[in-house]
Amino acid sequence: MLTTQPTPGQTDWFVHDRFGLFIHWGLYALAARHEWVKHNEEMSDDVYDTYFRHFDPDLYDPEQWASAAADAGMKYFVVTTKHHEGFCLWDTALTDYKATNTPAGRDLLRPMVDAFRGQNMRVGFYHSLIDWHHPQYIIDPHIGPLRNKDRAALNVGRDQAKYAQYLHGQVRELLTQFGTIDILWADFSYTHMGEGGKGKADWQSETLYKMIRELQPHVILNDRLDLDEGWDIKTPEQFQPLEWVRHNGQPVVWEACQTFSGSWGYYRDEATWKSPEQLLLMLIDTVSKGGNLLLNVGPTGRGEFDQRALSRLKDMGQWMRRHSRSIYGCTQAPAEFATPRDCRLTYNPDKKRLYVHVLAWPSHLLHLEGLAGRVEYAQLLNDASEVKMHTHWEATHFGDNAKDRLSLILPTQKPDTAVPVVELFLKDK
Ligand code: GLC
Repeated sequence: MLTTQPTPGQTDWFVHDRFGLFIHWGLYALAARHEWVKHNEEMSDDVYDTYFRHFDPDLYDPEQWASAAADAGMKYFVVTTKHHEGFCLWDTALTDYKATNTPAGRDLLRPMVDAFRGQNMRVGFYHSLIDWHHPQYIIDPHIGPLRNKDRAALNVGRDQAKYAQYLHGQVRELLTQFGTIDILWADFSYTHMGEGGKGKADWQSETLYKMIRELQPHVILNDRLDLDEGWDIKTPEQFQPLEWVRHNGQPVVWEACQTFSGSWGYYRDEATWKSPEQLLLMLIDTVSKGGNLLLNVGPTGRGEFDQRALSRLKDMGQWMRRHSRSIYGCTQAPAEFATPRDCRLTYNPDKKRLYVHVLAWPSHLLHLEGLAGRVEYAQLLNDASEVKMHTHWEATHFGDNAKDRLSLILPTQKPDTAVPVVELFLKDK
């Protein structure tokens, strides 16, 4: 069975819990056309300020957010304390560009942290390294609303080292004023974009890293600070890796981050919403490769999850209510168990149970290679109804070369659930 090497942070709970909520919330919720709108439309600070002056999430009820996430089966959340726009959700002492100075008039982060903790969920902070508002941040040719302007002139008097100080100061606030922080999700470095791209030298990542481990030694840190080591998780974004994510050939702890539609921030007119089945498949597929899924909601400017997000969370929760046993505490199945066609396997190594997620319901029989004689009992997970097994089917129908094959005798009708799961209780070897 594949396992990972220990990292500095505490990942035990993480690889057990598997499913989290990402929240992208900031001024861009008002533009409602992507959290990169300031960059995309090359907006000046003046124009973007309109959103600051009108940000008034009067329906914001973090308890509702937390219960929607908990009901969906999510066990942790990661929220944008500050996204690239530079706007801060908490009452930071280091800038005026924060929620308390908008019509919202209050710290929006603290009640969120309390509400999610109230649902026994772990707390993660996303914090943008990039900043399109800070006066000391050097304007580069790649990213930011001013990238196509006269950069030389605009950069006069800017000092990236001062920005780095600000960044460190804010991370210090976040790691000292909100209790235990389980995840710190820094975003992102871009030296790969070429000349002027920013990375560890611009964020002073090494010093930042030391401070992070000093303040919260157990925090799970993602891989976007441009450091070769010290991080705990890899974070593939908007795609499903083909197999367990590796670094230098070694399997690592990983988390796919994905959106319901194409945008992280609230996007009114975005129409490419994934179906509940697609989303469930993403979750199952991720766990079948030993990873976690961080699924994103972009709340509206009124402070709500919109209907499209809520209904999908609800559908996922309905499935999770009966099938979370194939997700929590599960990982990629040992290589000796071949994945049947149209299926995904997950495996609980403590309970020695194998979960067969059947994506396309067969008529009658499902054949599992390598499992003959290995299974003590089989049942459908949705209703705990027994699934009969056949080990001689092969001999009679396929000849001797199918001896290891176990055949499950499934009901003709697909159980009334998006993705049915067969739970196999393995015998002790
Ligand atoms: C990115 C984007 C972004 C989003 C993030 C989530 O790098 O800049 O807007 O916050 O990925 O992974």
